[in-house]
Amino acid sequence: MLDHVGTAIRIRPSGAALGADIEGIDLTRLSDEEFAVLRQAWLDHLVVRIRGQQIDDAAHVALGRRFGDLDYNPGTRLTGKIYVEGFPEIVRISNIVENGKPIGELGAGEADWHSDMCFIATPPSASLLRSIEIPEEGGDTSFMNMEAAYDALPETLKQAVAGRSIKHDAVYSSRGKQRAGTVAPESGDIRDLAGAVHPIVRTHPVTGRRSLYLGKRFNAYVMGMELAESERLLDALWAHVLGGNFVWTHHWRLGDMLIWDNRCTMHQRGSFDPNARRLLHRVVVKGETPA
Ligand code: SIN
Repeated sequence: MLDHVGTAIRIRPSGAALGADIEGIDLTRLSDEEFAVLRQAWLDHLVVRIRGQQIDDAAHVALGRRFGDLDYNPGTRLTGKIYVEGFPEIVRISNIVENGKPIGELGAGEADWHSDMCFIATPPSASLLRSIEIPEEGGDTSFMNMEAAYDALPETLKQAVAGRSIKHDAVYSSRGKQRAGTVAPESGDIRDLAGAVHPIVRTHPVTGRRSLYLGKRFNAYVMGMELAESERLLDALWAHVLGGNFVWTHHWRLGDMLIWDNRCTMHQRGSFDPNARRLLHRVVVKGETPA
């Protein structure tokens, strides 16, 4: 555990490849000094968890803005859909259905490993997710340290990815569902899908550390390769990241706020009982062009 001189903040690293609990802060009334400690812990540990917070939507948005300008989630970007009246920056992550309509995104199934909004030109730098209703069991969220994954790459794979880029499908979600407001190519060829192209190895604009940037597996394509060759390289990279010791799993409680660095991590959400209620709110902070 690390005490922060001059503040009551304690930083308790998870002991896994990433993640830390931040204790002794109230997110609704952070001094500039406390915010600086929180931001540095986020840069150092890639994901920070702050438990026991009583924070509403206005305070959630205000906290996000201290990290930078907020972006809109894909649904709002593409169709103007607003999930929370008065707070267009908030996306609801939920399986709850009201009046026959889902009130949020992602349902109750597993959400595969991904980095948020990898398919846009400037994917978010930070995501801030808070729990409002949580099932008794399931729905844990795991995070992967993509810097450690890059550092541990075998030399052959390091050479294979050097200078290469991935096209990140903007049309389908990782669960294969077409996003509202997008057009699927008539060819059915994943190379024709609209989506942003980003380097496979990116350098963090603040820390200077390098990480693998895989986005999501579904419909990814390594530019300039034959499709089969691209699939082989992606399969090898995913086998490496999934087979390594790069993960920390978070079990949700009410009042948790999680803040992750979306540039150098991926996350995955486990399934849960579809009859249980789960509701979280998320905002994302505008990022930069990956380089
Ligand atoms: C997400 O993928 O951003 C949602 C994670 C979760 O539901 O815990």
